[in-house]
Amino acid sequence: MLDGPGPVLEVSGLRTVFATRGGSVHAVNGVSFAVAEGEILGVVGESGSGKSVTMMSLMGLLPSPPAEIVGGSILYQGREVRDMSPREIRSLRGGEIGFVFQDPMTSLNPVFTVGFQIMEPIRKHMGLSKAAARRRAAELLALVGIPDARARLDDYPHQFSGGMRQRVMIAMALSCDPKVLIADEPTTALDVTIQAQILEIVRELRRRLGTGIVWITHDLGLVAGIADRVMVMYAGLVVEQGPVAAIFSRTQHPYTRALLATVPSVTEGRQARLRTIEGQPPILMAAPVSCPFAPRCRHAFDRCHRENPPRIPVGNGHDVACWWDPATGGARDV
Ligand SMILES: Nc1ncnc2c1ncn2[C@@H]1O[C@H](COP(=O)(O)OP(=O)(O)OP(=O)(O)O)[C@@H](O)[C@H]1O
Ligand SMILES: [Mg+2]
Repeated sequence: MLDGPGPVLEVSGLRTVFATRGGSVHAVNGVSFAVAEGEILGVVGESGSGKSVTMMSLMGLLPSPPAEIVGGSILYQGREVRDMSPREIRSLRGGEIGFVFQDPMTSLNPVFTVGFQIMEPIRKHMGLSKAAARRRAAELLALVGIPDARARLDDYPHQFSGGMRQRVMIAMALSCDPKVLIADEPTTALDVTIQAQILEIVRELRRRLGTGIVWITHDLGLVAGIADRVMVMYAGLVVEQGPVAAIFSRTQHPYTRALLATVPSVTEGRQARLRTIEGQPPILMAAPVSCPFAPRCRHAFDRCHRENPPRIPVGNGHDVACWWDPATGGARDV
C-alpha cells in the first residue's frame, strides 16, 4: 500500500473500550493505519472522535481498568507491542517512541525539576553522563524556544507557563532522537511564532533521522502545511484517509467535507466565526453497526442507516468509509 520505506508503526483493527458505571464506552472501534519512516500523518476529527484514546492505547498509557484494549494489533518495527512486557513498553516509550500529550501535566511530575525530567530518559536511553545529559537538556530547551534555558533546568513545572510546559514536553519527546513521534495537539497552546518554530524542528527531525510522525490537531490549515497524509476520525473509526492533497481536493466523505467547511475562508476575513457541524457526535455505548455519521449526514440513504461501510479504496492510497459517491451524487458502486 505504501511506496518507499516500510511502516515503522502499523496498527490494525484496534479496539478500546472503557468500563463505566453507565456501561461500556466504545471509544475506538477498529482503527487501522500505518506510518512510514519519514512520514507525517495528520490526524483530525471532532472532539470525542477517539484520537487521543487511539494513541494512548498504542503505548499502554491508559489505566486499566477502566480502559481495555479488546482487539487489534500494534506493530512497532514489525514487533507486536501487545505481546511486550510492561517493562519493554516503558523502555520504548520516551526512547524510540516520543509522546507529546494533550495535557502537559499528565506527563510532567510536579515534584522533580524540569531538568531532571528531561535528563532521566537521555541518561537511560542514550547512556550519556550526567554533565553531557545536562548539556543536551539545555540545548533541547533552547531549541523549543525557552529563554535562559540552562538556568531554567533547575525550575519545577509549576514555575513554567502553560505554553512553556507544552514546549518542555516537546523537548522531552525529542530528547532521545525518536523513531516515532506521536504528538497530541502539541502546538495548540502556543503562539504562531513558536508554533512555526516547533514545526520547523519537527520537519528537521524527520529529515535528519527519518522519524515517522503522528500529529493530532484541530487545525486543518496546519495539517495542510505539515502532513504527508491525513486520517480523519469519527466515532472511533477512520472514515477517510489519504495523501494530503487528495483529502483537500478530492474530499470523499461528507464528514470530511463538513470539517473542511468549518474553516473560514481567507475572503471571510477575521470576523468569520468558525462554523460547527450541525448535530452531535454519537455517544458510543455500543460499537457502531450502521454508519455513525448517517444521522447528521445530508446525503444518507437507507443503506447508511443499516450497514456500516468498510474502507473503500478510491485510488492513489486514498480510502473512504462511505456508501455515498460525491462523483455521481448517488450510491457508491460497491
Ligand atoms: N476514562 C474514560 N472513561 C470513559 N470514557 C472515556 C474515557 N476517556 C475517554 N473516553 C471517551 O472516549 C471517547 C474518545 O475520547 P478521546 O479523548 O480519544 O477524543 P479526542 O478525539 O481525543 O477528542 P479531543 O479532540 O477533545 O481531544 C470519548 O467519547 C470520551 O468520552
Ligand atoms: Mg484528544
